[in-house]
Amino acid sequence: MTLPAAKTSEFEIDAVRLVCDTFGAGPPILFVHGFPLDGRMWHPAVERLAARFRCIVPDLRGFGRSGTSPQASMTRFADDLAALLDHLRENQPVVLCGLSMGGIIGFEFFRRHRARLAGLILCNTRAKPESPEGVVRREKTATDVLRDGSRTIADAMIGSILAPTAPEALRQWSHAMMASQPPIGVAASARALGTRPDSYPTLARIDLPTLVIAGSHDTITPPPTLSEIAAGIPGARLVTIENSGHLSPAEQPDAFAAAVMNYAGS
Ligand code: MLT
Repeated sequence: MTLPAAKTSEFEIDAVRLVCDTFGAGPPILFVHGFPLDGRMWHPAVERLAARFRCIVPDLRGFGRSGTSPQASMTRFADDLAALLDHLRENQPVVLCGLSMGGIIGFEFFRRHRARLAGLILCNTRAKPESPEGVVRREKTATDVLRDGSRTIADAMIGSILAPTAPEALRQWSHAMMASQPPIGVAASARALGTRPDSYPTLARIDLPTLVIAGSHDTITPPPTLSEIAAGIPGARLVTIENSGHLSPAEQPDAFAAAVMNYAGS
């Protein structure tokens, strides 16, 4: 399977250049990557979905080819994505598919831009705010990365981001992607994750078709975290991807794409 040709767009918002690839044609799905990754993490799934959907795959501010800013927040990310949809003249409501930090941004997008959404796919994510120890850990990540570079977070996360059975090539691909992120962007997002709002009260208000995806071997956002999210959202469906860690769309792209197609009724 090969990735179809991308149409790459760039625009500036709040003094930062954002870069986005779109693939394929059909009902739009906005794919929002996790931390500390970029839009490439979706490529294995997009290869399987671009024949049926318009796959909109941005690099968030501070990641990939997009510009950096020393500050980030879930609000800023959500507003960047709404501005991106304007820039792309994407006027019909989209399904937002977010993984981990991308799902957290999805909750914020729902609160701020509900009218732009046709549905939500929440993958390997969490709704609760950071614990006090977590806030300290996020601040340490930010200072470590600013001092020593993004390889430090790649080294720290590579042992937990994938299922133990993940192939070595996937391990190297994920590590290289994390290590390549700009330290300023990684630090800003680590702090933004530390101060993220509580999305738990939002769950009961979600009035959109919602698919929740868990990875059977995810130790960062374990399956019970996703079950709890699905149970809190009226009518949400939960799919657990077997033999997958935290990066379900890259680890098990066939099962992931099948879950998305089943959800979309195609
Ligand atoms: C992510 O994939 O976005 C991160 O694992 C989120 C986190 O560190 O909580």
